[in-house]
Amino acid sequence: MAVLSVRLWPDPVLTTKAKPVDVIDDELRKFMEDMALTMYKADGVGLAAPQVGVSKRVIVIDVPGDEQEAGSGLIYAVNPKVIHKEGANAITEGCLSFPGLDIKVKRSEKVTVEYQDLNGAVQTIKAGGTLAICFQHEIDHLDGIVFTERLGPVSKRLALRDYEKLRRLK
Ligand code: NI
Repeated sequence: MAVLSVRLWPDPVLTTKAKPVDVIDDELRKFMEDMALTMYKADGVGLAAPQVGVSKRVIVIDVPGDEQEAGSGLIYAVNPKVIHKEGANAITEGCLSFPGLDIKVKRSEKVTVEYQDLNGAVQTIKAGGTLAICFQHEIDHLDGIVFTERLGPVSKRLALRDYEKLRRLK
């Protein structure tokens, strides 16, 4: 396994719509394991392939403590899509492509997500809480939408300004 390098905003891959995966093979499985390792090493709870420079529709998620709502633990999701959503929620989110920036983002409270697992089998998961937020955040990445895009214009400007300051301080 290898730790992959995480692309930071404003890398153009982060605003590119990712391509669906047609074939789930050993190469993809190895790549997704590398993604999981990269996520854990960075202390993240989710990672989308575009964040490591690969414009494919795959994500990995591991939200601690959501086992009751989730299946459990690490989720490898190929071609994930939200097929149902309800309610509204806003919690503070971070993103590995925006180190240090925490912003409150409006999302659906609960989502049902359909995806293929590493064997190509279709899975459906009903998620609430942090897991629901995480799925929405990562699927947004596949559509080239970063979390600051979910803010209103003034909040977005403030967030990007804060992020530029954080980058200069590094
Ligand atoms: Ni992110």
